[in-house]
Amino acid sequence: MEKEQLRSLFESMTWLEKLGQLTQTTGQHYVADMPEEMVETGPEMDGIGLNPVTLPMVGSVLGVSGAEATNKIQHQNLSQNRLKIPLLFMHDAIHGYITIYPVPLGLSCSFDNSLLFDVAQATARELRAAGIHVNFSPMADLVRDARWGRVVESFGEDRLVSGGLGQAMIQGYQGLEQGKIGPHNVAACLKHFAAYGAPLAGKDYASVDVSMREFFASYAKPYEIALQANPKLVMSSFNSLNGEAVTASNYILTHVLREKFGFPGLVISDWGAVAELKNHGVAQSDRECAELALTAGVDIEMVSSTYLAYGPELLQADAELQEKVNAAVWKVLELKNEFGLFETPYADAEAEKMTIMQHNHLELAEQAALQSCVLLKNNGALPISVQAQKILLLGEFAQTQELLGAWQCKGRFEDTVSLLQGMKKEFPHAEVHACATLEECQNSWLEDVDMIVVTIGETWNRSGEGHSTVAADMPDKHKDLLRKVQGLGKPYAAVAFSGRPLALGDCIETMPALLWCWYPGTRGGSAIARLLSGAATPSGRLTMSFPRHAGNVPVYYNEPRSGRPACESSYSSRYQDCEIGPLFPFGHGLSYADITYSKVVLSANTITKSAPVQLQFCITNNSNYTCKEPVLLFMHDVAARMVRPDRELIAYRCIELKPYEQKTVIWEINWGQLCYLNASLEPVLEPGPVKLFLNGLDNEIGSIECC
Ligand code: GLC
Repeated sequence: MEKEQLRSLFESMTWLEKLGQLTQTTGQHYVADMPEEMVETGPEMDGIGLNPVTLPMVGSVLGVSGAEATNKIQHQNLSQNRLKIPLLFMHDAIHGYITIYPVPLGLSCSFDNSLLFDVAQATARELRAAGIHVNFSPMADLVRDARWGRVVESFGEDRLVSGGLGQAMIQGYQGLEQGKIGPHNVAACLKHFAAYGAPLAGKDYASVDVSMREFFASYAKPYEIALQANPKLVMSSFNSLNGEAVTASNYILTHVLREKFGFPGLVISDWGAVAELKNHGVAQSDRECAELALTAGVDIEMVSSTYLAYGPELLQADAELQEKVNAAVWKVLELKNEFGLFETPYADAEAEKMTIMQHNHLELAEQAALQSCVLLKNNGALPISVQAQKILLLGEFAQTQELLGAWQCKGRFEDTVSLLQGMKKEFPHAEVHACATLEECQNSWLEDVDMIVVTIGETWNRSGEGHSTVAADMPDKHKDLLRKVQGLGKPYAAVAFSGRPLALGDCIETMPALLWCWYPGTRGGSAIARLLSGAATPSGRLTMSFPRHAGNVPVYYNEPRSGRPACESSYSSRYQDCEIGPLFPFGHGLSYADITYSKVVLSANTITKSAPVQLQFCITNNSNYTCKEPVLLFMHDVAARMVRPDRELIAYRCIELKPYEQKTVIWEINWGQLCYLNASLEPVLEPGPVKLFLNGLDNEIGSIECC
């Protein structure tokens, strides 16, 4: 539709119709004969105060997908909406729609922006064919506490990684050829703004209290980076931040997000969060909820209808609020117009059939799973010898197809490759058996088994929204199983499935090898089998630290220094009943490949605001594996006026290396990357030495003098 037409449509709208465009509901209010499985609903799904007059005014629907279902609802909407304004359909496909990729915490271990771009692009293709316009992804919340159930949806504990991968997914979702969303793309919705990943004691939806310096230096930084990819929407977060309910915070949603970070798009609330302002105790009525949220800068109200109910009276005498509403409605209409919905409101069911689970998506899902798994320990037990004739897969995940993880969207277990299926394919000449318990195994089988793969971890529904745990602990039954297997004296390795880092207890000491697979998605079983057989090498690196003990949270690599750094003395920053540091630190991960780095050459030994420094080094793959090698560059500021972490990631890359290939890497560091925020929230860097580390937190490669 031409802009003039859109403008005249806008000007013909009543206030109630405008407020309807700022209201989002679920599909259950439409089309009475809609099959239940077509309409996903959320926590509280009693009526949200809509009625036959206001329902046709609603602007968007979430939780419905598939051309047939969305077309049914769109048709009903257009037949009843006075101005024939089409609906936007929004969904949560945070790691795939029907083709499911590893959970985001797993994907992040690839440190591979291009992989995340590809995953988002492929997901967008399936979503758009299924009639979806907006994807509530990526989640860029920084996380440090494995008790929080939603760490599974995050990109881990580092701000650059969370921001960089979030940025890559937004670009993959939106495409934005010539600045417009492409025909096979969707609008991205960056979430949850802000600092939702730092809830008190790891409890979901709990309050967040961080200093503004820590907020801007750490928690807000991932969103600030990801916003550079221009997501069309941002979702405000459930939590309160420093005493303000974010959904009602003009400071967070208007001053920080729009004025400081320059976000020009739409802000949508989280599910029911506007009406939940009453629970926060910052509003006493739905009318007050509507006024606070509209004033704060929440454009679209998700699954509550206070705007429709009280907006008209609130707007009567408030020109400023009218301006906010008009601006928001105009953005909604422009987004619908950008999708061409006024001309083409319906999805193409035939195109959908051709797009869903297409071969290259499944191939990508397998590649993503290969890069997401992290080899945490290996004393040589892996890869499994090709001579192995009898392989036993043991434990509750040995043959399950429930490998999709939280927010599996429309993924189907029946499409998912189990570990047993993957191993049978990967070891065609071996006998591969699966048993849930040792007791199930026949002794005769155990006597001459060549290799045991013990599956451990937590079930997929132990993490995700509303699934915080009091202790990020591996179940005792799995620790017992490992002890029993250890007692058999047979070669074994462990494969773990989880949505969070887990405290493993003392069984890690005796475990010969441990491959951490998170929830690996539709092709998880085949990817893991290839890693176990050595057909491919693990390459993932941890983006979230593993605690030694369930009580050892939060734990993260860039904790600020202490005046008494942890050491053997009890008079140091440590627990008396736990060893020092994480069990496995951020950036940890082993490979089968032999990869060497040459000495790093610095272009200069000093760095100034105007003169960056270049690092140059060669990286050589001395093996016949194809490698996707994450390369991480850390800094250590020897002395600063504010207390800084001992190590801070300043850059990362994923370098592809063919067998026996050598590549020269040139990396530029600028002054700004070394800065920290002072008490006035200004980026500063005092004169003095900064040490540089490559990959490991202890692999010093040089030092530069900051001037
Ligand atoms: C949920 C989640 C959010 C999701 C939204 C819509 O409560 O917090 O991440 O996008 O509701 O399903």
